[in-house]
Amino acid sequence: MTLQNDLLLRAARGENVERVPIWLMRQAGRILAEYRAVREKAGSFINLATTPELAAEVTIQPVDILGVDAAIIFSDILVVPEAMGLPYEMVEQRGPVFPQTVRNPQQLEQIRIADPENDLAYVLDAIKIVKKELNGRVPLIGFAGAPFTIFCYMTEGRGSKTFSVAKKLLYTDPVFSHALLQKITDSTIDYLKAQVRAGADLVQLFDSWAGILSPEQYRTFSLPYIKQICDAVTAATQVPVTVFAKGAFFARQEIGQLSCSVVGLDWNMDAAESRQLIPNKTLQGNLDPCVLYADYDQIKAEAKKMVDAFGTQRYIANLGHGVYPDTDPEKVRYFIETVKNLTA
Ligand code: CP3
Repeated sequence: MTLQNDLLLRAARGENVERVPIWLMRQAGRILAEYRAVREKAGSFINLATTPELAAEVTIQPVDILGVDAAIIFSDILVVPEAMGLPYEMVEQRGPVFPQTVRNPQQLEQIRIADPENDLAYVLDAIKIVKKELNGRVPLIGFAGAPFTIFCYMTEGRGSKTFSVAKKLLYTDPVFSHALLQKITDSTIDYLKAQVRAGADLVQLFDSWAGILSPEQYRTFSLPYIKQICDAVTAATQVPVTVFAKGAFFARQEIGQLSCSVVGLDWNMDAAESRQLIPNKTLQGNLDPCVLYADYDQIKAEAKKMVDAFGTQRYIANLGHGVYPDTDPEKVRYFIETVKNLTA
């Protein structure tokens, strides 16, 4: 199936585009009343994510309502630890919690490498439904958490500002840490390949907690595993890979040397400096999501600064992290329209 709007794919591959493509991290979700209605019907986040027809419906909502140039499959990075034998709960107002954690070799032994065709069939089924219902309108993004970020949740058991339980293990038990990171990596490679077989047109790795590591720890405990994933997915498929390592401004040059096509940036990373550090890849980002709380004129001014700094080629517009749940969807839509108008 040829895509009607393939701007995002062409930008990711470094090909010329007529205007800058745009999508937003966390575009499907609580900012939209239409999402909240489907979530209500599903009863819980986990029911929604595990019911392919409903997950497909909320995946497509932002394409219709916001006018983004891509859909991202509605799921969560935490489905991988669950498929490895560690179930999670989504606690209202608090976020994900793992009742059990993995902190020693005995617990690690109970953890298996995920079998995506069985354990994550609901995500693959959702991808197939989305592809059919999108009918080539825009590309579909698949995703997974980067191994270090998944390691954080599996060891800590919940969100944290410091993830000091997770980081303690890196210092006190590097052998255990590397063994768990490798199991996550093997699971993630199989999962992303399965997403591509199901129809994902490109895939993104979210290393949301990259910024809590020192450069040396990042080089030891995160980058080598991201590299394995980029190499394996690139060898097995044709799809572009995006690496988004939030807070890892110190690792941009090394990330730029991976076998990925796109590097995601957060708002702490300067556009010109990033172009210099990552000369041969497409960049994605990086508006501060808080700009969308400002008035329309200010949103326009900030959007203009951003696209002027990045230019129109080898660039995918986005926020520097996910859109915050209390953002006015009209402001989100205005930001998307503004980027399209400024770069056409
Ligand atoms: O639109 C999209 O981007 C697709 C869906 C998506 C979700 N989670 C749905 C979700 C994606 C890509 C994710 C990734 C994810 N999940 C990350 C990486 C990106 C990032 O934000 O750094 C992380 C760290 C998680 C883990 C997670 N899931 C947390 C910490 C939370 C609670 C806090 C929050 O942001 O809501 C979730 C819950 C979650 N994942 C929701 C959604 C729509 C909210 C649940 C609800 O609807 O009640």
